Amino acid sequence: MIVVLKSHITKDSPEFRELMSFLAQKPGISLRVHEEVGALVTLTEVYLIGDTSAFDLHEIETLPGVERVVSIEEEYRILGRHHDDKRPTGFEYKGVRFGQDTLNVFAGLCAVDNPTHVEQMMKALADNGQVCTRMGAYKPRTNPYSFQGHGASCLPWVFDLAGKYGIRVIAMEITHDSHLDEIRHALEQTGSPTGVMLQIGTRNTQNFELLKIVGRQSEFPVLLKRGFGITLEESLNAAEYIASEGNRNVIFGLRGMKTNMGDPHRNFVDFAHVPVVKRLTRMPVCIDPSHSVGSRDRGPDGLLDVQQVTAQGIIAGANMVLVDFHPEPKKALVDGPQALLLRELPYFLEDIAIARDAYER
Ligand code: E4P
Ligand code: PEP
Repeated sequence: MIVVLKSHITKDSPEFRELMSFLAQKPGISLRVHEEVGALVTLTEVYLIGDTSAFDLHEIETLPGVERVVSIEEEYRILGRHHDDKRPTGFEYKGVRFGQDTLNVFAGLCAVDNPTHVEQMMKALADNGQVCTRMGAYKPRTNPYSFQGHGASCLPWVFDLAGKYGIRVIAMEITHDSHLDEIRHALEQTGSPTGVMLQIGTRNTQNFELLKIVGRQSEFPVLLKRGFGITLEESLNAAEYIASEGNRNVIFGLRGMKTNMGDPHRNFVDFAHVPVVKRLTRMPVCIDPSHSVGSRDRGPDGLLDVQQVTAQGIIAGANMVLVDFHPEPKKALVDGPQALLLRELPYFLEDIAIARDAYER
């Protein structure tokens, strides 16, 4: 059960103290307080953990300072969308709003390779009014002899260039908790105003210790990708791991599933699940058309499959698009065959705007 307090009530209000002493008398439950910090107001919520089945919801709802009471199921206690749950979704980070009603594009390099390509990418983004990007510094590879990413060594110049071109948020995958400190250190060292959204990739969806670590910090939001070979429920529980440790700024990413049915794409595109995730949880949902499709194949109408499935995801209500671009895909060190070209960026963004407009109508 979650008791949502009126917007003017804080932990210092007498109504809050009165409510807490009332709830403290209830046997068999523990209380956890969470403050949802928004741009204009901070909402205070009290979580009642334990068996609340015998509680009179309406009695609690009539207490001073209480806005409403939401009864929650066992599953996805924090991130879930529970009965009659009208609480706002999402969060703001570095002046960018992420919610189930917004749309942000993170076009960028799958893997950082050299400063020239990173600068060309950042410039193209700035020229097209973009403030977010993706940049892979730590690459999880199938083959141990494949390029593993430049790691910490590239972070200072990536953050400097991002700051130079007004990039506010970089989605960056981490595969180990030490990467968190390296990112923190490079941001401090460069003084770059850019922020980082920590990406947990499909290979680490159920790396529970890593999930707990990113959950214990509140400095960076987290993009958690769906595991490619596990159920949706298992992946949503993985997201809940992050929130259960305290960090609720979590975005859920769909990136296609592995099947053994001879898929024509690198992964079976799962963007029809966007509304399902939005119905079950309060997380904004990201789509990754690049890792889903895995190529620059195009249909007889001339459109790239990457463009087609992006439009499908947007029509389904996606809130974020993570997509690979590269100035010279043939020279890309990872996933060049699926990268879009910089000159395709304005058209790609225009397609997204058209699809979003159709969705909103
Ligand atoms: C990057 O995006 C991943 O590291 C990449 O998709 C890994 O795939 P591979 O190592 O099988 O090439
Ligand atoms: C990526 O986005 O760079 C990546 C490795 O994706 P995924 O975890 O979906 O394979």
